[in-house]
Amino acid sequence: MKEIPVRDFTFRVFDEGTGTPILFVHGFPLDHTMWQGLLESFSKSHRVIAPDLRGFGRSTGAVNQPLTMDSHADDLDSLLSELKVNEPIVYCGLSMGGYIFWPFQQKYGSRLQGAILCDTRAAADTSERAAERLKTADSVEENGPELLTRAMLPKLISSHTAKNHPSIADALKNTILKTDRTTIAQALRGMSLRIDNTNRLAEIETRTLLLVGDDDELTPATEMRGIAETMPHARIVEIPNVGHMAPMEDPATSFWEIEKFLAEI
Ligand code: MLT
Repeated sequence: MKEIPVRDFTFRVFDEGTGTPILFVHGFPLDHTMWQGLLESFSKSHRVIAPDLRGFGRSTGAVNQPLTMDSHADDLDSLLSELKVNEPIVYCGLSMGGYIFWPFQQKYGSRLQGAILCDTRAAADTSERAAERLKTADSVEENGPELLTRAMLPKLISSHTAKNHPSIADALKNTILKTDRTTIAQALRGMSLRIDNTNRLAEIETRTLLLVGDDDELTPATEMRGIAETMPHARIVEIPNVGHMAPMEDPATSFWEIEKFLAEI
């Protein structure tokens, strides 16, 4: 892992391999370790860059204001500049990592050769969902991340994964419990401020692979199909028996599908 100072904080980032860079952007409230099953394999053929976002994992930079998707996109652009990445990259984001893709694409689209968007959505929060996030943010700030593990874990993975790969639930729980409570709260507030990107989808030229677990409760396949139908250069793959953490729950299928996509672009 490298330590890369950017803007007002220090990124901890996995940066291995050579070739077209793939930027792996984790979901909430996790860190780069969620991509563990893919990083080594892809670093044999690509430059793999997998940071912990500001305040998450072992990166510094917890802030006392909402962590917006825009600010994460700006952080990632600065990271790529610091790492001297001048060639086009493939952006691979899961859930919140996908939410960050939309402003990243809008502001830094010239950096993109392609995108892989896993278990995510383009729409903003409904007002009910945004209100729920703000309530959870206050509770986590006051009581710590434990309540989030109880609320989120059953929705993150499929019942098939919970039964057959209990170590995945343990790993997710450990990561959530280690995450800084201020960062969790500010990330929830930041996600509640997301704008609706659905009306831009038809204009996005980036070649895109959409990956979704067919048992994803948080960002269901039906919603991802809508994105695939609207983006002009996107196709969708639905992975059976897995939930919201599809690439972590079934890294072998995810690797195979991503590799096929990388050969196409
Ligand atoms: C994630 O996996 O990043 C979260 O489920 C995103 C969200 O809370 O909307």
